[in-house]
Amino acid sequence: MRVVSGIQPTGNLHLGNYLGAIRQWVDMQDRAESLFFLADLHALTVVIDPRELASNTIEMAATLIAAGIDPDRAILFNQARVPAHAELCWLLQGTARMGWLNRMTQWKDKAGKNREGASVGLFTYPVLQAADVLAYQATHVPVGDDQKQHLELARDIATKFNQDFGVELFTLPEPFISPAAPRVMSLRDGSAKMSKSDPSDASRINLVDSDDVMAGKFRKARTDAEPLPAEMAGLAERPEARNLVTIYAALAGTGGDAVLAEFAGQGFGQFKPALADLAIATLGPIRDRMVRLLDDRDHVAVTLEKGAERARTLAGPTLLAAQKAMGL
Ligand code: ADP
Ligand code: NA
Repeated sequence: MRVVSGIQPTGNLHLGNYLGAIRQWVDMQDRAESLFFLADLHALTVVIDPRELASNTIEMAATLIAAGIDPDRAILFNQARVPAHAELCWLLQGTARMGWLNRMTQWKDKAGKNREGASVGLFTYPVLQAADVLAYQATHVPVGDDQKQHLELARDIATKFNQDFGVELFTLPEPFISPAAPRVMSLRDGSAKMSKSDPSDASRINLVDSDDVMAGKFRKARTDAEPLPAEMAGLAERPEARNLVTIYAALAGTGGDAVLAEFAGQGFGQFKPALADLAIATLGPIRDRMVRLLDDRDHVAVTLEKGAERARTLAGPTLLAAQKAMGL
């Protein structure tokens, strides 16, 4: 099993990113040969600030290492340092069809009504995503709901390439759906995703928040006056309460019903401090390690470069085989 997964190097990581993405990677590295990359090339599909991109890349890498990614086991790198991603992307653009890309719902959502003003990269980045995984012959790709369509596209591109050129070159990657990845909602509005783009800082727990700030945000999280029920089914109509219990369960590595078995009948006056303690115990050490790692940014950069070296070695033969198949 070989897993490849990327994350855009954006700043301001939060609890949703941790429980929904980063922690899944940490679990993954024990179960599969894992390649994790910071998708700095994907970041170019929208307008970027070069200095911010460079510093976000290092900060994101430090966060991943602080959260438990072991760069000696997993291969951790940034996409731009492995030219095979962009090169294979170009080769695959001859295989991908305009109609396929036109059907991508993310393209429709992100470009909106301004298709003429969108970057070409925003349209073709699903092909780069295909190259990201096909270059390494990934067998599995962790995907959330919003990325399923792009993985399907990668499989279509791989199938057509293999057929068109009469080769059995590309492995068709399977989706890896992690049952443990919860969707974390805003602390201010149980119907909105916790997100870095939410203008309210109180809506999210940032991974850089101090212990006191975290505790304060949980204390002020929107809830209701009802006590907690005995089972998750009793929270169906209480999204804010459900979210807090879901977060507790995810942090504790257990299920919502198990959490409620402990807290049934109690109110949020009791539950919130317990949740805050658990979050601080989990995220505090990650934050502290991250801060220490960022004292030496060059060292983080060297770690990424070592990962890129290993990734280049793995991707090289596949890129060469694709070129040969195409007469290059
Ligand atoms: P944001 O929504 O803050 O912009 P991104 O879109 O950059 O976050 O997502 C980065 C990763 O974190 C993705 O794998 C995404 O699925 C995950 N993620 C982001 N927000 C959440 C959330 N609220 N709950 C669970 N996972 C999330
Ligand atoms: Na987002």
